[in-house]
Amino acid sequence: MMIEYSKESQTFQLQTDNTSYIFQVLANGDLGQVYYGRKIHLKSNYHNLTTREIKDATVSWKVDQPDIQPDVLKHEYSVLGSGDFRFPAFQLTFANGSRVSEFKYVDYEINTGKQRLPGMPSTFDDTNDDVQTLTINLTDQLVGMDLQLHYSIFPHQDVIARSATFINHSNDQVVIDHAFSTEVDLPDANYDLIEFPGAWARERQLNRAALRLGYQGSGSLRNATSHQANPFMMIARHDTSEDFGEVYGFNLVYSGNFLNQVEVDQFQTTRILVGINPTEFAWNLGPGSQFQTPEAIQSYSNQGMNQLSQQLSDFYQDHIVNPRFSQQPRPTLVNNWEGTYFDFNEDKLMTIVNAAHKAGIEMFVLDDGWFGERNDDTTSLGDWFVDKNKFPNGIEHFVNQVHGLGMKFGLWVEPEMISKQSHLYEQHPEWMIQTPGRHQTPGRNQFVLDMTRPEVVDYLFKVLNQIITDTKLDYIKWDMNRYITEMYGIDLPANQQLEMGHRYILGVYDLYDRLIKSNPDVLFESCASGGGRFDLGMMYYAPQAWTSDDIDAAERMKIQYGTSYGYSLSMMGSHVSAVPNDITGRTIELSTRARVAYFGDFGYELDLAKLSDDELKQVAWQVEFYKRYRRLFQFGKFYRIESPFAGNVTSWQVVNDDQSLAIAGRYQLMNEPNSPYLRIKFKGLHPDKQYRINDSEEIFYGDELMNAGYFIPNILKTMKEQRLRTADFSSQLFVIKAI
Ligand code: GLA
Repeated sequence: MMIEYSKESQTFQLQTDNTSYIFQVLANGDLGQVYYGRKIHLKSNYHNLTTREIKDATVSWKVDQPDIQPDVLKHEYSVLGSGDFRFPAFQLTFANGSRVSEFKYVDYEINTGKQRLPGMPSTFDDTNDDVQTLTINLTDQLVGMDLQLHYSIFPHQDVIARSATFINHSNDQVVIDHAFSTEVDLPDANYDLIEFPGAWARERQLNRAALRLGYQGSGSLRNATSHQANPFMMIARHDTSEDFGEVYGFNLVYSGNFLNQVEVDQFQTTRILVGINPTEFAWNLGPGSQFQTPEAIQSYSNQGMNQLSQQLSDFYQDHIVNPRFSQQPRPTLVNNWEGTYFDFNEDKLMTIVNAAHKAGIEMFVLDDGWFGERNDDTTSLGDWFVDKNKFPNGIEHFVNQVHGLGMKFGLWVEPEMISKQSHLYEQHPEWMIQTPGRHQTPGRNQFVLDMTRPEVVDYLFKVLNQIITDTKLDYIKWDMNRYITEMYGIDLPANQQLEMGHRYILGVYDLYDRLIKSNPDVLFESCASGGGRFDLGMMYYAPQAWTSDDIDAAERMKIQYGTSYGYSLSMMGSHVSAVPNDITGRTIELSTRARVAYFGDFGYELDLAKLSDDELKQVAWQVEFYKRYRRLFQFGKFYRIESPFAGNVTSWQVVNDDQSLAIAGRYQLMNEPNSPYLRIKFKGLHPDKQYRINDSEEIFYGDELMNAGYFIPNILKTMKEQRLRTADFSSQLFVIKAI
């Protein structure tokens, strides 16, 4: 049993293969958290863990029950107003303006498996992976409301998914001022907070800092999870490394405003809250209605961050990503964006398509600029019909040629956006999000459609579905290139304006859901100026995302390394661009560019027709190499070895399930004069297996390669041998095969 209930102490014990999560019903009917961490034995009572000293100068529940001191207890889903003065997991306002809630324990239910949440991305259990779901029912009798806390236990990946449902049985309106998805109250604060802040072209950079007293954490108010913050975070012991130590991971299955808040209080306890950002949110819960929070997932490992990332990655593939694609090899592709920008026509594109075909690339992706009259970024968003100047014979004619070569065809769209210079704007100016009478702030010259309006979603479904059918699309790159300003819903009453952000993202999910149901074989890639919506909400619909607009290989080392903490390799679109790179102006050898891009969904984003014959041969070789090891690069077990955030060298590795095959990449930014002895210590190999490296004559045991390491030859020598132009930004790839 993964869920045990002890009647004697009213304690719930949730067990995964390696972790325990324990909470109990307190004497006042509230839920108190007992323990979360490495698995411990089941017991009927944990007196030792629940003993508390009575503190002075704070409130107690009752005069004759002084040990129930809400401000001192660890809670399961806390609320402000009756003695816990820390930031609460939720807050309600009732019809009379009162803000005190008293949800008391009623009973519980256990169900096998995990149902999807309606209308929202969520975890699921289609593979009968021994999942169980516990629902705790609580009620507030005075106001006639129920609260359900849901816990789905995914035992084999050590993951628990949590969410809450508020149900209003009363005749009055209740306002949910905020409602997080999960709360974890840890008994001490000797942890580091590890987060992944960034910016456009610099997404998900590692940031690690010790917890301190007070509030910390990060979130987004951009109506997208954002480039600047990511909902994935870790809480790790100060000495936790990639391979040792305790670490908790949290993520949210959601794509809108979020907040990860960590609070260290007066007694050095740590409260972790993950959910929709309370700022710019409130939900009016009418009589008879209910509100479901998005799901948060939490996981724990005592074997370091590599282990945590690996178990999360397994979890995503089985329980988040569209099952149609979760194990499906992703096609190699060429995308024309950085190759042509808006300056193309059918003939020019065909030169790229033909070069790609020769090189063995499997898909051509037509990026921005194929529709309306879009020759720059000032016009046409919303006009999803082909530009006859660029495709005089219609887009079908072009697509037929691509398909005729046996290649797949992908198309860029940006459904949520509208240009003022567009037919759509002429017809429906009211579909644009705007606050009446206020200035309208453009972003990349464009504005945002009101996705909370059903007619907008209906329209987009109709036109996009038509394009998919007409062009027999294999793949869609769904972009979203600006954050939302002047948020306001012209159809919503004044007291519901704070619902807009959540309603907007539900509208986006609705459109995704309808398009996928009607076109189950189309692979979606999400994008938001690169990695501005790189989150599990998107991954539920679009199994992969464009990791960053920055394709410079040196920057990508950091971006992909940072992203790998919380996401799978198969989720990361990773391409080779032309040099000098358009964003950094940096020139890096083609070999290094490819060796970085291999670790993900591989492609090219340049004008292949401009490459020399030598370079094209190299591209063909790279594509062939990638295809041979594609499964490993997309679905292998990923190990971080040396961090780009720590110094000059980055290295990482993928290993297959039976440890018979692994590939490691090692990248060095600057060459060092008279360098020290260089070795790479591989990871995840079988200690007793024997391996060859790059078909070497010498044979190595796994334990030798992991503990003593493998000698790195002099970079200058390699440079001369391979006729490379520079020894900076050098790289090596190690194909490690068991014999
Ligand atoms: C965004 C994307 C790019 C490209 C452009 C097109 O910036 O991230 O990859 O598609 O839009 O306008």
